[in-house]
Amino acid sequence: MAIVLAMAILKIARMGHPVLKQVAAPIDDPKSAEIGHLIQDMIDTLADAAGAGLAAPQVHVPQRLVMFHVPDARAREEDGEAAEGCPFTVLINPEIEALSEDISEGIEACLSLPGLAGMVPRFHHILYRGLDHLGQTVEREAEGFHARVVQHECDHLDGILYPMRMDDLSTLTFTSEISRAREEEEQEDAENG
Ligand code: NI
Repeated sequence: MAIVLAMAILKIARMGHPVLKQVAAPIDDPKSAEIGHLIQDMIDTLADAAGAGLAAPQVHVPQRLVMFHVPDARAREEDGEAAEGCPFTVLINPEIEALSEDISEGIEACLSLPGLAGMVPRFHHILYRGLDHLGQTVEREAEGFHARVVQHECDHLDGILYPMRMDDLSTLTFTSEISRAREEEEQEDAENG
């Protein structure tokens, strides 16, 4: 029998959908075929959406699974020349521990709130652990943008979306307005310069 490799792009739940508000259930068997399929479909969905990360509740599956990646170029853009990103990572039943009380503010966006971005405080330095797609333990320290992405994705497993973490809602913005304001500024600079 031939093996059919079908690509599946899943529908992403948007803010307001009940699945994004619930506490997701732990996964008993990380190596099951069912979880394997879910991971593959989520990889396809994340690639299609061109996001940094995705959590299972965002594809209507209330289970404790997230995936993310931070290209080195993106990490350097966010945290300076010395920063490193992280490879593509699947984390099942993840746990996070803050390694210091330092908080960093940074801009976040989410595939479940299309078109929006806002300033969110997060722990700067964390330790995270979980199981990967092979059921093996992953344990890493992360700082800056890498730490931010992991905290954002894991929050989805507890029904938390980034606006719930913001302390200044006036920074919640449609990204199209930011680009428009920037274009207008550039135009003014060109006219004045
Ligand atoms: Ni998100």
